[in-house]
Amino acid sequence: MSLRTMARGLMRGVSWKNPVVNTAVHAVDPVDSLLRRINGQGYLPPYSVRARSAGIRLDIGGKEFLQVGRTICNLLIAHAALTPDSNTLEIGCGCGRNAFALAEFLRDGNYTGMDIERVALQGARGNQLLRRKRFAFDLLDVRNDAYNPAGRYAAAEYVLPYPDRSFDVVFMVSVFTHMLSDEVKNYAAQIARVLKPAGRCLFTAFLLEGRDPTEFPFQSQEHSYANQAIPAIAVAYRLDFFSSVFTANGMFSGPGPLWGAIHGGVSPTRDQDVVVFTK
Ligand SMILES: C[S@@+](CC[C@H](N)C(=O)[O-])C[C@H]1O[C@@H](n2cnc3c(N)ncnc32)[C@H](O)[C@@H]1O
Repeated sequence: MSLRTMARGLMRGVSWKNPVVNTAVHAVDPVDSLLRRINGQGYLPPYSVRARSAGIRLDIGGKEFLQVGRTICNLLIAHAALTPDSNTLEIGCGCGRNAFALAEFLRDGNYTGMDIERVALQGARGNQLLRRKRFAFDLLDVRNDAYNPAGRYAAAEYVLPYPDRSFDVVFMVSVFTHMLSDEVKNYAAQIARVLKPAGRCLFTAFLLEGRDPTEFPFQSQEHSYANQAIPAIAVAYRLDFFSSVFTANGMFSGPGPLWGAIHGGVSPTRDQDVVVFTK
């Protein structure tokens, strides 16, 4: 494995499961806590919890964590018609990286975050700032080989516990990047169901078009993946897979996609691309 591939793996969110990495990550917490207090960001979750959502980054103090959340919020405003009054669902919200930014933006709207990884979700649920905003966080026991391998329910069949036509905006940041194609198909149907008419779904993805094929060398069903043993660690798709899945559920494509930097595009989400569908 090349150093570049190892570094990419570390950035991709589940490296904290490695016991050595996990110990090192916890060792950073006291310094991170001190820096956060100095910078007035003492309210953020500790580094070891943020790493479960954001991956291992040199982000001691949480500055980048906040910046990424604000970038996502701006993308939602620009491309998913997010307004201060929107009812918003974030699938795979982790420890609240994007919720903190939405807490600054939403006024009469509301936010529900759901995730399947207990520690991260509890980091968001127990956060005082997000509690004051009355943001809701749902922990769901859905299986994912990278994040919740002993989960009770299959993602390919799970019915999201939200009423039909209840959200203006549904979004997912670096979540379809961990889901297999039959799971994506089910979630697309669920998203189409819970969105209000004209509601929008924005998500990030590793789009395969123009990407170095050695990045995702393995194939199964309609997805390509990077890690042979645990495909859910990093999964990539062709754009037309998403188009056919969402249009099959009565949604249409656009605006976009915004191609990520890896494609020479302008998407601010680095190596991930941004895709939007409208109901
Ligand atoms: C790389 S993290 C990103 C977290 C968050 N979206 C962010 O931007 O900080 C991927 C998240 O997707 C969640 N996830 C994976 N499979 C899921 C599923 N089937 N349903 C909901 N969340 C899932 C994981 O638990 C994890 O928190």
